[in-house]
Amino acid sequence: MKPIEIAKGIYDVGVNDWNIRDFHGYSTNQGTSYNAFLIIDEKIVLIDTVKKEFFNDLMENISQIVDPKRIDYVISNHTEMDHSGSLPLVMHRIGEEKPVYCSKMGYKNLSRHFQKKLNYHAVETGGELSLGKRTLTFLETRMLHWPDSMFTYLKEDKILFSSDAFGQHYAGYEKFDDQIGDSIMPHAKKYFANILLLYTKKILKLVEQVTELGLEFNMICPDHGIIWRKDPGKIISAYVEWSKQEPEKKAVVVFDTMWHSTEVMAKKIADGIAEEGVEVRPMHLRNCHRSDVMTEVMDARAVIVGSPTINNQLYPTVSDFLTYMKGLKPQNKIGAAFGSYGWSGESVKLINKELEEMKFDIIDSGIRIQYVPDKDDKDACFVLGRKIGKAIKE
Ligand code: FEO
Repeated sequence: MKPIEIAKGIYDVGVNDWNIRDFHGYSTNQGTSYNAFLIIDEKIVLIDTVKKEFFNDLMENISQIVDPKRIDYVISNHTEMDHSGSLPLVMHRIGEEKPVYCSKMGYKNLSRHFQKKLNYHAVETGGELSLGKRTLTFLETRMLHWPDSMFTYLKEDKILFSSDAFGQHYAGYEKFDDQIGDSIMPHAKKYFANILLLYTKKILKLVEQVTELGLEFNMICPDHGIIWRKDPGKIISAYVEWSKQEPEKKAVVVFDTMWHSTEVMAKKIADGIAEEGVEVRPMHLRNCHRSDVMTEVMDARAVIVGSPTINNQLYPTVSDFLTYMKGLKPQNKIGAAFGSYGWSGESVKLINKELEEMKFDIIDSGIRIQYVPDKDDKDACFVLGRKIGKAIKE
């Protein structure tokens, strides 16, 4: 991918990672990009780097604009290695004496990632760096989503370099919201559901802080996916809405199955929910990736979980999903459990315990069915579905 001039003298010199399909356990079905930004002023600055494997591509992109050795400063908005992995190589290329600006936590965290001591300069919220005609301002955004995360704002151009925030895992030749349209929103939503959901209170506070500071944005440039230039307000509004965690009238029935009995139960429960006119998505955990299920869970009112009992335990994919969901701390959910069993049948009890720990409102003690559901069992599942549907509509 060639560098793109996103505004006069400002370039995206990042790279597309077209074929990555597993980003530390998140399914990236359309790859991702590692965006990095070069600003040419009296001083030349590089904002963020890329994954180590893409160092040569980054250098090639920068070289099409300027000799990399002419870079005066590097800004590291975030330590995670998809953005800092190339940092030691970049500094080796441009001169290790040159300053690397990062947050205080960035200083600590970069020092823990790279043994080579670089010329780190820790900055705080409100700190400024003059580039000549232009000025960068820093805004620490702790725990959005790492302790070191920060934003960098280019005052004169009103451009926010937002690190992971407002990003999407998407690789394409489209680079702006106006080139791709609304089809980017599901990617932004999935990114939020799987990376930021547990920090929604902090996000609402940050939006308040930004509003109080009176910051305006002509452009928001995240480190993944497309740049918001036509309507930066759209993604900010979406973040505010998602952060409220006000669920829609919708249910997700998430399950796995050994010999189809739990699957039959899932379908009957889903049928019952649909009978009440409520949107419902049955999702089989060996066909649906946990990160896709989580995207549906984010705005669902009910999460109904089914598992067979195997060796007195939950089915491993169900345990995996419950652990994943627990970490993301979804709010305002109702839940229920179901599952078939042969002789011991602990799964429903185990699921209920997990859902209680997640502060779900358990609306039914759940249904256990031995071996294969008969007509009465199927009817009981349908009735449970209707009960769930009614509760969602309340
Ligand atoms: Fe894209 Fe938190 O790294």
